[in-house]
Amino acid sequence: MRGLTRGKRPPIYNERQRVQLREAGRFNAQLMDFVRPHIQPGVTTGELDRLVAEYTRDHGHKPACLGYKGYPKHICTSVNEVVCHGIPGRYVLREGDIVNVDLTTIVGGWHGDSSETFLIGEVSDDARRLVQGTFDAMWTGIRAIKPMSSVIEIGYAIARLAQQRGLSVVEEYQGHGLGRRFHQPPGVPHYPLPQASRDVLVPGICFTIEPMLNLGSKETDPPQSDGWTVATADRSLSAQFEHTILMTESGPEVLTLTQHGPQEGHRF
Ligand code: MF3
Ligand code: CO
Ligand code: CO
Repeated sequence: MRGLTRGKRPPIYNERQRVQLREAGRFNAQLMDFVRPHIQPGVTTGELDRLVAEYTRDHGHKPACLGYKGYPKHICTSVNEVVCHGIPGRYVLREGDIVNVDLTTIVGGWHGDSSETFLIGEVSDDARRLVQGTFDAMWTGIRAIKPMSSVIEIGYAIARLAQQRGLSVVEEYQGHGLGRRFHQPPGVPHYPLPQASRDVLVPGICFTIEPMLNLGSKETDPPQSDGWTVATADRSLSAQFEHTILMTESGPEVLTLTQHGPQEGHRF
């Protein structure tokens, strides 16, 4: 999401609320594992949207994106040079594409939010290198923090890794707090934005880490005429991964870990 107003205090969740957050995160991960086998050459992004919507409703839950600020679909599917907020439709995935699938669900009033970038068949070496770097960037951000860390530590860690790999970090869109609301404080920039040093990850805070990295420049175009789709300014490839994190007294707890997706340390 775009930068949040800073300075507003994020909610600190108690044990009862944490149970609810865990449940929402777990369902969102289960949903990712459900749609995973369908993400293949020949499928349309609109079909993935339909499958996710149906599974979510069949389990008694609600897709958070539909109607959010007027968003027209249930998920985001961002292909190749699309950075984020790609709208599912008639586009047919084909060998060589990379596609980010971003899912957000409301479970009993609580949000879970996660995304992965998928390789469609054999992809170019550059595409694979980008997806690997972006996955590693998310994990280095997660591993950079402990209780009472500053949010800026996430940005330092991700920016360092991106620089080492020759990749750029999108600045226009950030991670975010979430809970009963989809987006709330703190904003979680994936680069060291000075103001982020004021935000402290106290135990009980829930937020996302969702870096978007580009092969070329970090610059993004404004949303396209559909009001949503954001592409890289230079049309170079972009990738993203996202997890929902609960900071606990003993460290970050990743609420959206999947059973069948890439685990920490995975090689693409
Ligand atoms: N899931 C996105 C995020 O990670 C937000 C999508 S908003 C939508 O924050 F309206 F485009 F769905
Ligand atoms: Co998010
Ligand atoms: Co998301």
